[in-house]
Amino acid sequence: MNNIVLIGFMGCGKSTVGIKLSYRLRRIVEDTDKLIEKKAGKSISEIFKEDGEPCFRQMETECLEELLNSKEEKILATGGGLPIRRENHALLKQLGCVVYLRISPECVYERLKNDTSRPLLQCENPLEQIRTLLAKRTPVYEEAADLVVDVDGKDMEQIIAEIVQKLKEHGYLQEGEKL
Ligand code: S3P
Repeated sequence: MNNIVLIGFMGCGKSTVGIKLSYRLRRIVEDTDKLIEKKAGKSISEIFKEDGEPCFRQMETECLEELLNSKEEKILATGGGLPIRRENHALLKQLGCVVYLRISPECVYERLKNDTSRPLLQCENPLEQIRTLLAKRTPVYEEAADLVVDVDGKDMEQIIAEIVQKLKEHGYLQEGEKL
């Protein structure tokens, strides 16, 4: 399939990039976290609290399987922990081009230090937690990715331009989308 799938750590900008990219390429954007919340009828925080993280991870896999049934080519923003399940890598690859938005732990911390919606960062020392999780996940993101874009110190326009450029170079855009 020809979707554009955004992966990367919490706070790297997947949802915002997804929306901007959807305007630019005139495609629908979907967000796995939002699809899961809609289906479960509760927030991610509530799912973690009431059903536990393993249940949430299962919902992520099912969400990818459902997205594979859609014929339309979309932009897909994913939850930051979705690629940690190896079985999800094959699903991501089937969905389309996987773009990894790479960010540093310090930049994540600056963006999310006042955020309360990420259950995994509601802890004593969020910066330490970000460093630990990011170190563990970096090889996983790299393995799942077809393209990598660094986001630290760049504004949204630069990031979108870079993604579009790389998609073009690697032949992932349709003729009409080569803006
Ligand atoms: C998670 C990232 C979150 C959300 C959940 C778990 C993670 O998504 O799926 O809180 O494990 O990194 P964002 O990356 O959109 O914040």
